[in-house]
Amino acid sequence: GAPINIDVSKIEAGQLITAEWRGKPIWVLNRTPEQIKDLASLDSQLVDPNSTAADQQPEYCQNPLRSIKGKDNIWVAIGICTHLGCSPTFRPDLAPADLGANWKGGFFCPCHGSKFDLAGRVYKGVPAPTNLVIPPYKYLSETTIRVG
Ligand code: FES
Repeated sequence: GAPINIDVSKIEAGQLITAEWRGKPIWVLNRTPEQIKDLASLDSQLVDPNSTAADQQPEYCQNPLRSIKGKDNIWVAIGICTHLGCSPTFRPDLAPADLGANWKGGFFCPCHGSKFDLAGRVYKGVPAPTNLVIPPYKYLSETTIRVG
């Protein structure tokens, strides 16, 4: 499939948008400063906090925030659970009754209960074995990314 361009300047802080590339949902989230700060506190609860698994993201996103350096707020991922392919639900709410007091926002897969944080890093003790996949992308300008 052809690459797609996405205008990231229109995404409000805390907002997630979904595009489509190669028949797959592409998520783009504009993380708030609080959300970015909270990510650092989750490492001990995660399977692969530094995202070292080579095939889960391009090399330039192989870091704890899983974003391109200097563009920490913008996070891009393929919105498909790494367990059996369901579509996880965006759950940015803090400490919801069903996900617990320690929940800092992330994604919850309704199929078998896998949980991911706002960098798509998988929590320990859930069926999904790996972090969500980040597709290849780059900045064409300050406001536009190209996925693919
Ligand atoms: Fe997401 Fe099984 S497909 S937890």
